[in-house]
Amino acid sequence: MNNNSDSMRILFVCLGNICRSPTAEAIFKLLAAKNQLNVEVDSAGTSAWHQGEMADHRMRSTAAKRGYKITSLSRQFQRNDFDNFDMIIAMDDQNYHDLKDKAHTKEEENKIFKMKDFFMKLKSDHIPDPYYGGAEGFNYVVDLLEDASFGLIQHIKNLNDHDAAI
Ligand code: 4NP
Repeated sequence: MNNNSDSMRILFVCLGNICRSPTAEAIFKLLAAKNQLNVEVDSAGTSAWHQGEMADHRMRSTAAKRGYKITSLSRQFQRNDFDNFDMIIAMDDQNYHDLKDKAHTKEEENKIFKMKDFFMKLKSDHIPDPYYGGAEGFNYVVDLLEDASFGLIQHIKNLNDHDAAI
């Protein structure tokens, strides 16, 4: 973020961009709007396996039951995402390391975060991939992403307060 009037641009990243990161995008967008935070939000996958597809139907229906509408289409992470976003947030360690491998500069590396580091109440090493599991896995993803999104909102508010104070 360059100054107070700029919006913070946030990109959530998982493997397929059909389960975890589109859900993070939908949850965080709604929460940011409720908190009147000026943000731009998107999501991407480290793979192109599901390029152009809607999010997984199980993920969409689980999220919808919890009040979140997932509308994004899958796309692969691109090198220019390092220019277009301020924070690039990985769902698990593999995503994190794949992103680090793509970074060319320290500045790009410093934009990469792990979603788990924003948990407020819940604890998990990562946001687990629900793709090959049962229904409870999809609900758990929403639980974890809601909790971390609250933490991320708080993190951004703190940054804004800090910027306003100097
Ligand atoms: P995501 O989940 O990374 O949360 O979108 C996955 C979706 C698809 C596959 C793996 C993970 N897949 O193997 O196709």
